[in-house]
Amino acid sequence: MSDSETPQLEGPDLGAGVALATVPDGACLLGHAHGEPVLLVRRGGELFAVGSTCTHYGGPLSEGLLVGETVRCPWHHACFSLRTGEALRAPALNPLPRWRVEERDGTAFVREKLDAVERPASPAAAGGPESVVIVGGGAAGNAAAETLRREGYRGRLTMLSADRSVPCDRPNLSKGYLAGTAPEEWIPLRPEEFYAEQEIDLKLGTRVERIDAASREVVLADGGRIAYDALLLATGADPVRLDVPGGDLPHVHTLRTHADARALLASAQTARRVVVIGASFIGLEVAAALRAREIEVHVVGREAIPMEKVLGVEVGKHIRKLHEDHGVTFHLGAVAASIDAGGVTLDDGERLPADLVVAGIGVRQALALAEQAGLAMDRGVTVNEYLETSVPGIFAAGDIARWPDPHTGERIRVEHWVVAERQGQTAARNILGRKERFDAVPFFWTEQYDFTLSYIGHAESFDRAEIDGTLDADCRITYSKGGRKLAVATIRRDLEGLREEVELEGSFAA
Ligand SMILES: Cc1cc2nc3c(=O)[nH]c(=O)nc-3n(C[C@H](O)[C@H](O)[C@H](O)COP(=O)(O)OP(=O)(O)OC[C@H]3O[C@@H](n4cnc5c(N)ncnc54)[C@H](O)[C@@H]3O)c2cc1C
Ligand code: FES
Repeated sequence: MSDSETPQLEGPDLGAGVALATVPDGACLLGHAHGEPVLLVRRGGELFAVGSTCTHYGGPLSEGLLVGETVRCPWHHACFSLRTGEALRAPALNPLPRWRVEERDGTAFVREKLDAVERPASPAAAGGPESVVIVGGGAAGNAAAETLRREGYRGRLTMLSADRSVPCDRPNLSKGYLAGTAPEEWIPLRPEEFYAEQEIDLKLGTRVERIDAASREVVLADGGRIAYDALLLATGADPVRLDVPGGDLPHVHTLRTHADARALLASAQTARRVVVIGASFIGLEVAAALRAREIEVHVVGREAIPMEKVLGVEVGKHIRKLHEDHGVTFHLGAVAASIDAGGVTLDDGERLPADLVVAGIGVRQALALAEQAGLAMDRGVTVNEYLETSVPGIFAAGDIARWPDPHTGERIRVEHWVVAERQGQTAARNILGRKERFDAVPFFWTEQYDFTLSYIGHAESFDRAEIDGTLDADCRITYSKGGRKLAVATIRRDLEGLREEVELEGSFAA
């Protein structure tokens, strides 16, 4: 993660003062003060001044959406409090700076910067847990650990991760990091010292072997035991490996961890021809990133049209053409039959020479612990609206959790970064007894070349994908079933995507 480059200063100098009339009620004004970009917002009788640059990847908040006392980022839908600057919803983790605003004779002046808001400690004596163990150092686990501390939890907090690296920005691994536009230092979500400072006992390279629910302990692979009052399972998923002859050769890669990405990057330095097996999100993002390195790319996919199942025929065809225009060759309706040092042989006998192979053929949820602990399962770990499993005191979040979605009325499970982080945040508050329902509308995005698509909602299947606009320029695609809108995707219409999110939230807010 990065707070990105220093943004250009635009608009009026708010430190010198602006006429109040230039900021109508419910609107914002982009300007700057004391050398920093500032968003001045008027809401009712109050004025707020916060940083105008999203702390996730620098999205322009002046192009976002004001909702009550919050502003939402147009790029990946982080949400910040205007009053406190706090990052209320992932994917942003850091607060916005904020300034005192003084109003005098019809002019608003942005004065000195205000301190970050401190939360009072949430003592264990108030009925909360004395110790929390988080299994998983990914999106959900990290967000939960940070949230527990931000909410004032001062008890023992242990995060156990089988990964050898600190929690990392996985979505970037198949995008800018692989393409070479995102440097190494953007990948850790936090530096290692952060966890020590926050008194989060992060144990890397530590696999939990089983849960002893009766004695409330997790048992590590080395036999060690760690006791918990509350446990969060956030074990995510592992990439499916290619089960074909040669599928385990050293030049065949999968991509999930920072270490996987480093290994792939190292191979990409010398590769001249790659075969990507799998034409879904990871496969196509990898294809785009490797084309940026001018490597010849062939994509093999079982489906006739990439992404058709999730995004529909028209969007799928558009994405295929986008890749072809960038020099990718598709081999669709095909599967890999075998791999050797010189290439991949498809099931129809076609041979694709390659010095690098990437398998992006899906993931398998890491459910072994949950199953062994006897938790109720349903194609994932069954959780209630508070993300608690069938065993009191054990919560689950992220790729493994199937939750009751108030929008569709169904139990759903998704594999999205922002959802995993938001579930981690909600689970943390519920571990502290807050009884907060998880009711966020699912959101994900994909980036391939200069094409970015944002997807809001959840359509397990749909019978209509209605495109408003043109895929080449900008558009909104509405996915519905039986006449009911389930999800919306937007291309170059970020503000519309935010409005759709609010509308979908409202459709079940009653
Ligand atoms: C390359 C890539 C790109 C992606 N891009 C996007 C994107 O653009 N947009 C989007 O919405 N989503 C994207 N995703 C999906 C997103 O990253 C996942 O949905 C998200 O990471 C899930 O979070 P999680 O916390 O459930 O699991 P993870 O982030 O996978 O974390 C799981 C953690 O659990 C640990 N673990 C597992 N078992 C054990 C055990 N027994 N003991 C100890 N630790 C254990 C693992 O080591 C890991 O630390 C991408 C994923 C990948 C791999
Ligand atoms: S840049 Fe704002 S949420 Fe990503």
